[in-house]
Amino acid sequence: MKSLGIGLIGTGYMGKCHALAWNAVAPTFGDVARPRLVHLGEANEALARSKATELGFARASGDWGRVVEDPEVDLVSITTPNQFHAEMAIAALTAGKHVWCEKPMATSLADATAMLEAAEASGKVAALGYNYIQNPATRHMRRLIADGAIGTVNHVRVEMDEDFMADAAAPFGWKSEAASGYGALDDFAVHPLSLLTVLVGPLASVVVDMAKPYAERPLASGGSRAVETHDIANILFRLQSGASGSLLVNRSAWGRKGRIAIQIFGSEGSLLYDQERMNELQLFQARGPAAEQGFRTILTGTVHPPYDRFIPAPGHGLGFNDLKVIEARELMRRIAGEPAHLIEFATGLRIERTVHAMARSHETRGWVDID
Ligand SMILES: NC(=O)c1ccc[n+]([C@@H]2O[C@H](COP(=O)([O-])OP(=O)(O)OC[C@H]3O[C@@H](n4cnc5c(N)ncnc54)[C@H](O)[C@@H]3O)[C@@H](O)[C@H]2O)c1
Repeated sequence: MKSLGIGLIGTGYMGKCHALAWNAVAPTFGDVARPRLVHLGEANEALARSKATELGFARASGDWGRVVEDPEVDLVSITTPNQFHAEMAIAALTAGKHVWCEKPMATSLADATAMLEAAEASGKVAALGYNYIQNPATRHMRRLIADGAIGTVNHVRVEMDEDFMADAAAPFGWKSEAASGYGALDDFAVHPLSLLTVLVGPLASVVVDMAKPYAERPLASGGSRAVETHDIANILFRLQSGASGSLLVNRSAWGRKGRIAIQIFGSEGSLLYDQERMNELQLFQARGPAAEQGFRTILTGTVHPPYDRFIPAPGHGLGFNDLKVIEARELMRRIAGEPAHLIEFATGLRIERTVHAMARSHETRGWVDID
């Protein structure tokens, strides 16, 4: 495979994660050409230059347009705040680059639709940063469900909680601005939706109530500003399969650090997973003597691909950043025309439709069908 020239826009939490993935994908997998870290874009020249040195990029710009136009860039990683995704992704696709854009796809359905249209018109690969589907543990859950290990799935419960916005004194940031979307839905619910999509299929209908635990947050410059997004969403849903479910998300849940707790109940067993214990899953099968039945813990290891590409010994554990390395490899596979486990813009748009149906349900206080 020809070496890919990488452009990166944004170098915060996710920008560093993408940069680490592009640095690690070739040595980890051993079967792809090492990507060339060509051009990094940031909000200003000084930050761009210092981050380019830190992360290993050859060129730096305080204007993201120069990254997108660089003829040596084949793919653009977009890791900026949500409200920039559509403009940057469409520009990159129009310039003939592949795109790896962080979630959520966009903040409006019109923008997400335009992004898909740009991807289709370009013929380039356009994927989203839904890294949790890459975990060897969630991939194994998918295999178990497909193989009938828990029978027919009839009920699903998911909770996603973190506490980075739990402190009422935490300063107002871009995640509290309406420009970033609805908050709990675009920031959090989209991740469980990506997992539900690959594990049990898409949602058909939803009823939602959202909440703001804090009406205002302090401004770094003094004073305070009204919070425009919701930190909490309580969702009941029906899957297209007919199974029922619930999804509860909260960015202000003290003590929860990275919880994505999934319970999947089937006609012959159950599966449990929690991202806070991301190297294990629990399987219950209603088989054998009733007195000996119970949940068993499956610790991921070399028999759960692609764990073996990272570590030759089982049970030592992958970390969050490793999921991005796997996602980068899947993206390279897709660019090479091979089958890949990835959420591309077409499926991403379906997730966006679900998010906007959820917002409509909150406004109308009733059930909403997604299509
Ligand atoms: N996949 C995941 O698990 C995951 C986790 C966290 C965040 N995210 C997503 O990643 C995106 C970024 O979130 P984050 O937490 O990294 O944010 P962040 O605030 O840490 O970083 C954003 C970066 O973008 C830069 N930036 C802002 N405007 C810019 C512009 N016009 N040109 C160039 N650079 C610009 C900022 O300077 C900053 O470095 C969001 O869309 C978020 O939803 C995904």
